[in-house]
Amino acid sequence: MQNFAQHLLAWWDEGHADLPWRRTRDPYHIWVSEIMLQQTQIATVIPYYKRWITRFPTVDALAAAELDEVLKMWEGLGYYSRARNLQTAAKTVVEELDGEMPKTAEGLLRLKGIGRYTAGAIASIAFDQAAPVLDGNVIRVLSRITDLPDDTTQTATKNALWQLADSLVPTERAGDYNQALMELGQKICQPTTPACHLCPVAMLCMARERGTQLERPVRPPRKRTPHHDVVAAVIFREDGRFLIVQRSLDGLLGGMWGFPHGRQVKGESKLAALARVVSEAYGVQIDSAQPLTEVKHAYTHFRMTLHVFRATYVNGQPPTSTNFAWVSISDLDALPFAVTDQKIIQQLMRD
Ligand code: ADE
Repeated sequence: MQNFAQHLLAWWDEGHADLPWRRTRDPYHIWVSEIMLQQTQIATVIPYYKRWITRFPTVDALAAAELDEVLKMWEGLGYYSRARNLQTAAKTVVEELDGEMPKTAEGLLRLKGIGRYTAGAIASIAFDQAAPVLDGNVIRVLSRITDLPDDTTQTATKNALWQLADSLVPTERAGDYNQALMELGQKICQPTTPACHLCPVAMLCMARERGTQLERPVRPPRKRTPHHDVVAAVIFREDGRFLIVQRSLDGLLGGMWGFPHGRQVKGESKLAALARVVSEAYGVQIDSAQPLTEVKHAYTHFRMTLHVFRATYVNGQPPTSTNFAWVSISDLDALPFAVTDQKIIQQLMRD
């Protein structure tokens, strides 16, 4: 395994993807890219990254922005706590660290939203520190190279993989090496179609020798994610304006705007659920509910069918703890909405 890094770096030097965040050593830009790339495909991230860097070119620019605009720039990427944490951490850098990002993995780890992976990525790519990274791609590569028989979702196995990753990082060109390792996982050491004949470290790979590539990494069988029926209402006032509400900052989709909604419970009709939800959660009475559209969406831990209705406002107000607004379509451009709520807005514009 002594030659592992050398082979990977030689492969990297023969050619690698030209990505916007690989044309910079600016630690803030690399930070933004690494946060966006978590849970999200490279091709999806590229336009978001470019827009973000244009609008928030520096840590100071991000720290000074309004949350609505920060979330608007993230709109459609999902996992919105990533954007909120990025801004919280940017404020920490500006207010407590004189605007300078920490240059070591340990220092970076103290910032909100920066875990072991992101700390290692920024420290190695921006600052040439010999810090390891471990993401899904790296787990797959390393578990195949060593033909690891252990369940890689277990903490003990993850710790062992972090140790292995740490022991393999070269003292020079750690950033190139880490990116090569991830790119190897993306392009060559793919989940179901590993291209071992093209792999620069095939001669070191235990799984290849034993023919166990497709059995690595070991994971427990996937549980079926639960499905929920959710009802939502576009509640119109007589003046043609409708009600939108902002989700509280702590939960799923925190800070994103949307339409009043809630789960349909067992034995309840959709219309009964709608009336109950808008009354209980938003303090509003409605009538004349009519189906508008249906939206399906898969989150990490559950799938959802959203049954959307138009309804007429009768009376009531959301509680003062809820941020809400009565708006028309033209007011929506500036506010951040989750993908499901954007689909409702599109339907409203078609009608
Ligand atoms: N995935 C996340 N960050 C990456 C990077 N810097 N290079 C390749 N793949 C990545």
